[in-house]
Amino acid sequence: MHSSTWKSLLVLGLTSLATESAAAPTSCPPPKVKPGRAIYITSNQQQNSIIALPIGSNGQLSAGTLTATGGSGSSILNQNGNVQTPATADVLSSQSAVTVAGNYLFAVNAGSNTVSMFAIDPLHPTRLTMVGRPAAVPGEFPVTVGASTKNKLVCVGATGAKSGVSCASFSSKGLGKMDQLRPVGLNQTTPPVGPPNTIGQVFFSEDEETLYTTVKGNPATNTTGTLGVFAVEQPCDGRGAVAVSQEGKLNVLDQTAVLFGAAPLPDSQILSSDAAFGAVMLSVDTETGTASVKNVIDVAGQKATCWATLSPETNTVFLADAGFDRFVELSSTDGSIKSTTNLNTGDPGINDLKAAGSFIYALSPGNATVAPAVTVFDVVSKKVAQHYQLKGSFATNKVQGLTVLA
Ligand SMILES: *[C@@H]1O[C@H](CO)[C@@H](O)[C@H](O)[C@H]1NC(C)=O
Ligand SMILES: *[C@@H]1O[C@H](CO)[C@@H](O)[C@H](O)[C@H]1NC(C)=O
Ligand SMILES: *[C@@H]1O[C@H](CO)[C@@H](O)[C@H](O)[C@H]1NC(C)=O
Repeated sequence: MHSSTWKSLLVLGLTSLATESAAAPTSCPPPKVKPGRAIYITSNQQQNSIIALPIGSNGQLSAGTLTATGGSGSSILNQNGNVQTPATADVLSSQSAVTVAGNYLFAVNAGSNTVSMFAIDPLHPTRLTMVGRPAAVPGEFPVTVGASTKNKLVCVGATGAKSGVSCASFSSKGLGKMDQLRPVGLNQTTPPVGPPNTIGQVFFSEDEETLYTTVKGNPATNTTGTLGVFAVEQPCDGRGAVAVSQEGKLNVLDQTAVLFGAAPLPDSQILSSDAAFGAVMLSVDTETGTASVKNVIDVAGQKATCWATLSPETNTVFLADAGFDRFVELSSTDGSIKSTTNLNTGDPGINDLKAAGSFIYALSPGNATVAPAVTVFDVVSKKVAQHYQLKGSFATNKVQGLTVLA
C-alpha cells in the first residue's frame, strides 16, 4: 500500500558558487565511477522533511524537492557548565540520519520516535513517495538508520532514555514491525545530553552480513567507545525470515574515546572516526563478534572528527570535522593519512558526508550567521567543485544527515 505523499513543494532558493572547470581534454580517461543521481538530507524541523537535490552529469547539485516525512525532528541537549541547552548544530550528533537501499530511502524522526520509508522514482530521483506510515521505533530519540539491500533489513539506533538498536524487514509494501531493542549500554535521557555517551551510527558491514553500531564514550569520565556487533541470521531450510541476531557483542574498545561515524570496508574492517583524536581502523572477527583496534590514527589539529565515507573513485576514506571545513583522506588498507584539504568555504564545520562517483557531498549546518550548505568536492583534483547554499524556511542549522542515490 503506497500512501501518496509526494509533494513537489520546491522552492529551494539557492546561491550556487560553482567554479567552472575548464573543458577536459579529449585524451582524459572517463571517470571510473558513474556520478550519483541525487542527495537526501533531513531538515530535522518540527515537521521533518527530506530535502532532495538532483546531481547533474558533472556531479553538481541543482534545485530539488521537499517531502514531509510524517514525523518530527528534535535536538540533543548540550551541557554548558550546569546548564543544558538544545544543540544549535549537529543536532542529532550522528552519521546517517537518512540512508538509501536500492530505490528506497529511510529517515529517522528523532522527535516522534519513528522511521519513514520512501520509494525513489528511478527516473526522477528527487520524487519521493512515502511507503506506508512512519513505523514506530520501540526506543526513544532515533538518530541513525542503516539498511541492507541484500537482506531487505533496516535498523535504527535510538539514543534517548530507551536506547538501543531495533530492526525490521522492508518490502515494496513498507516496513515490518520494528523488533525488540538491542541495548547498547547507554543510560541517557530524552532528549539525550551529548554528544558524548550517545550512538554514533548504525550500519551494515560491507558484505551486509553483520550489523554494527558505534557508541561514543566520554573522555571527561574516562568512558571509551563501544562497537556493537550483531550477526545477520539467514533462515534455516527456507523457514522463517532473515533477521539481525538479538545476541550481539558490545566491544568496549580501550584505545577509542568518542567513536562516531564509520566507513565499512571489505574483510570485516571498519574505519571509524573518533571525535577525540581522529580515527581508528577496526577489525572484526565475525564468528565471535569480537572487535579489535588495528590502528590508531591521530589527526593533527582536529577538533571533532565525526564522519567518514569511502570514495568508490579513489578507494580511500574521507573524514569530516564538526569544528571546521577540512577533509582528511585515509588509506583504506591501513588508515594512514594520504592528504589533508582545507575547503575554505567559510562554513563552520560539517555534519555528515557521502561519497559518490568522483565526488564527496558534505553537509554543513552553518550557524547563526552562515547558511547551511553542501560542499561538492572533487576527489581527483582535491578541489571544491561547488558550494551549494540551502536557502528557504526548511534550511536551518538543524539540517542533519546526508546520503546519495548512487
Ligand atoms: C542512570 O543515570 C541516572 C541519572 O541520570 C542515575 O541516577 C542512575 O544511577 C544511572 N543508572 C546507571 C545504571 O548507571
Ligand atoms: C581518568 O583517567 C585519568 C588517568 O588515568 C585519571 O587521572 C583521572 O582521574 C580519571 N578521571 C575520572 C573522572 O575518572
Ligand atoms: C559562523 O561560522 C563562521 C565560520 O567558521 C564564523 O566565522 C562565525 O563567527 C560563526 N558565527 C557565529 C555566530 O558563531
